[in-house]
Amino acid sequence: MDDVIRLGLLGCGTVGGGVVTILEREAADIAARTGAQVRVTRVAVRDAGRERDLPLGDAVIGTDPWAVVEADDVDVVVEVMGGRDPAGGLIRRALELGKPVVTANKELIAHEGPELYAAARAAGVDLAYEAAVAGAIPIIKPLKESLAGDRVTRVVGILNGTTNYILTRMSEEGASYLDVLADAQALGYAEADPTADVGGHDAAAKCAIIASLAFDTVVHADDVYREGIEQVTATDIRTAEALGYVIKLIGIASEVDDQIGVRVHPAFLPRTHPLASVRDAFNAVYVEAAAAGELMFYGRGAGALPTGSAVVGDVIDVARNLLQTARGATETAHRAKPLRPMHELRTQYYVLLDVDDQPGVLAEVARTFGAHEVSIAQVWQEGAGDHAQLVLITHRSREGALRETTEALATAPGVRRVASVLRVESEVFET
Ligand code: NAP
Ligand code: HSE
Repeated sequence: MDDVIRLGLLGCGTVGGGVVTILEREAADIAARTGAQVRVTRVAVRDAGRERDLPLGDAVIGTDPWAVVEADDVDVVVEVMGGRDPAGGLIRRALELGKPVVTANKELIAHEGPELYAAARAAGVDLAYEAAVAGAIPIIKPLKESLAGDRVTRVVGILNGTTNYILTRMSEEGASYLDVLADAQALGYAEADPTADVGGHDAAAKCAIIASLAFDTVVHADDVYREGIEQVTATDIRTAEALGYVIKLIGIASEVDDQIGVRVHPAFLPRTHPLASVRDAFNAVYVEAAAAGELMFYGRGAGALPTGSAVVGDVIDVARNLLQTARGATETAHRAKPLRPMHELRTQYYVLLDVDDQPGVLAEVARTFGAHEVSIAQVWQEGAGDHAQLVLITHRSREGALRETTEALATAPGVRRVASVLRVESEVFET
């Protein structure tokens, strides 16, 4: 095979290492599928002197990513360095030079996607980012291509491997948050700054990308309502379990009354709920579409080889297009839709209160819920000397009303503390 597609790799850490490994392991099949050999010719890293146990062959390894983008022996740029700067500028320059780009960078796409798509369109080259959402799981292409003839109404997902891994081990082993986070980092699941994972920023970026594609609009990372898992306590996990739920960090994007609702937060899911069985660093994305009905995508959401698989798939895609001087499917944002304010959300809530164990306190708590038109579905109380913990699950209520309720409870007589408030998503993904 005479044709060669030459790759310039910006970054060679967890994901870059996975890409290089797959390219070497599957070289013959990849060449046959692409119609050309696919070779890494240049790599930029921060520390070029570091020993890397990777099959990099005779690729030139340096520390200047701009030189990789500009190099004459680079046909396709693969950005797996992460962050917005300089990655954004490097991608723009590659596109200007007419070089297709493959990236795994959800932070960049969720903040600057529309500008980057426009740059790719102006240059007439591909910008592919399957690996940016849910690691190995094909979800970008299904939304952009396979479901292009349908109308997506809702997408629900477990979109962050690190937090799912942490919550799984906290729940199943009673492991401590910090120990599990360290393990997730060692396994290559976590972002360079793991607060992006635990704070829900990573899942919010993915949810923004999904919502933009699903609803043909522009949803920016900052448009996504976001809560992380930092406030989820061992008590919440134990209480959820005792009541037949598991706690998951979920992302939900939906279209309601011509408005787009996009949110990421931890939630109680019934143990029987299909997303409840998604454990460890696995991700799952559930899509509802008007004609197709319900679709579920499940797989590894993080890690070197799973993410590398999605990157290499994109590399083959853009290489095939390059060989045929064609372009792949592009994004459209033809329906500028307003965002649905979070206070209009209607769902159920779990509220944990530390209260004085005295007559009249439960009545005061019930009165406060009632005064704000939040109806209580279930109540449990556990005493511990002079104080007690009250667990309440509400009926479906308006988020705004629930927030007013918890604000009032914080200063109600006999209530020591509103210890936790989490959404209970029993009706999402009904089976
Ligand atoms: P990583 O392990 O930290 O690797 C980053 C790589 O980029 C390293 O090789 C680093 O060099 C290099 N680098 C960073 N800044 C650079 C600069 N200014 N100039 C030159 N090289 C630079 O990160 P990762 O986990 O592979 O993640 C990469 C991207 O993939 C991120 O956008 C991330 O969000 C995304 N992603 C990751 C996963 C995952 O499971 N890890 C999954 C999906 C998507 P050194 O090696 O010398 O430090
Ligand atoms: N840090 C991310 C996660 C990597 O844990 O899901 C995959 O995007």
